[in-house]
Amino acid sequence: MALEARGDGSSVVGGMEQGEDDDFILDIDLLQAHGINVADIKKLKTAGICTVRGVQMITKKKLCNIKGLSEAKVDKIKEAILKLQGEGGGVGFITALQASLNRRNVFRLSSGSSELDKLLGGGVESMSITEAFGEFRTGKTQLSHTLCVTTQMPGNGGYTGGKVVYLDTENTFRPDRLRPIADRFSLDQEAVLDNVLYARAYTSEQQMELLDFVAAKFHEEPGVFKLLIVDSIMALFRVDYSGRGELADRQQHLAQMMSRLQKISEEYNVAVFITNQMTADPGATLSFQADPKKPIGGNILAHASTTRISLRKGRGECRIAKIYDSPDLPESEATFAIYNGGIGDPKD
Ligand SMILES: Nc1ncnc2c1ncn2[C@@H]1O[C@H](COP(=O)(O)OP(=O)(O)OP(=O)(O)O)[C@@H](O)[C@H]1O
Ligand SMILES: [Mg+2]
Repeated sequence: MALEARGDGSSVVGGMEQGEDDDFILDIDLLQAHGINVADIKKLKTAGICTVRGVQMITKKKLCNIKGLSEAKVDKIKEAILKLQGEGGGVGFITALQASLNRRNVFRLSSGSSELDKLLGGGVESMSITEAFGEFRTGKTQLSHTLCVTTQMPGNGGYTGGKVVYLDTENTFRPDRLRPIADRFSLDQEAVLDNVLYARAYTSEQQMELLDFVAAKFHEEPGVFKLLIVDSIMALFRVDYSGRGELADRQQHLAQMMSRLQKISEEYNVAVFITNQMTADPGATLSFQADPKKPIGGNILAHASTTRISLRKGRGECRIAKIYDSPDLPESEATFAIYNGGIGDPKD
């Protein structure tokens, strides 16, 4: 069953013309023509920066921190980029029309449940970060597994499907879980598994390093990957930084990771899907809040995630998703269910 064949009329995947985002990604190798030597370009690549946009998304101070790049060299690189862009036209500003054309590249991935897709405004959106948080067994990891499969299927608006990167911080990825989900959508099991690139991170530092690898991979195979999953974003930060004393340090590193994720999503037009845990809110009993639990990660995570949904348990296999704290989506809810074939709509 192809996604567009679903009878509910909801737009699942849309807007992606193949090849359209190719000129959107300018390779930093192009800087060679403007006097930057191969060795310096290689240094950028080793740091996970592979495109002109990638360089522009990083402050000069950070670039100078890259091993072997002096301030003079960084200035030269910045100059070369200006020249390169001068050739191509647009420096910095674009018209709203151009911006709207760029937005046409945005696509949406189905969660497997049409109700949940509707809540998300069509599905998990590319060029942005979607965060799902909730208590244990609310379906965050099941949702991640389902997205591994739905991302591979063509949808409407010319979306052709693509590969997935799965960063696992809790050791809960089960490749064989993808098999029955593949069956549900009549996809070849082996092919589905072959299209998911998996890595396990054991420390928050490693989690960050893996993102450099991911950026390099996305660059190497432009347009091939459509989804990056981090399940879960906070687990290792919780272990690596303990107590009040290390909180500021933790939040600073978390901010860097979130900004990296945001950049990757925009630079390569992929959807970023992260999961998060919850903690009791000590202030809640005082303020008589209905929901005394809140996602961890504080303001940093709250601001970095474009769309946040909270998940809670319903009856049996049912789960309820709610838009949490969104500036532009209404605070509505959707009920979905967890089956052997992955996330779907409730049966009755
Ligand atoms: N093959 C399956 N068929 C049906 N339901 C399943 C299957 N595998 C797992 N589940 C259900 O999925 C739920 C677990 O969901 P999941 O592992 O996604 O939770 P989570 O939100 O990631 O929790 P945690 O915070 O512990 O990581 C359980 O209720 C389990 O019964
Ligand atoms: Mg989980």
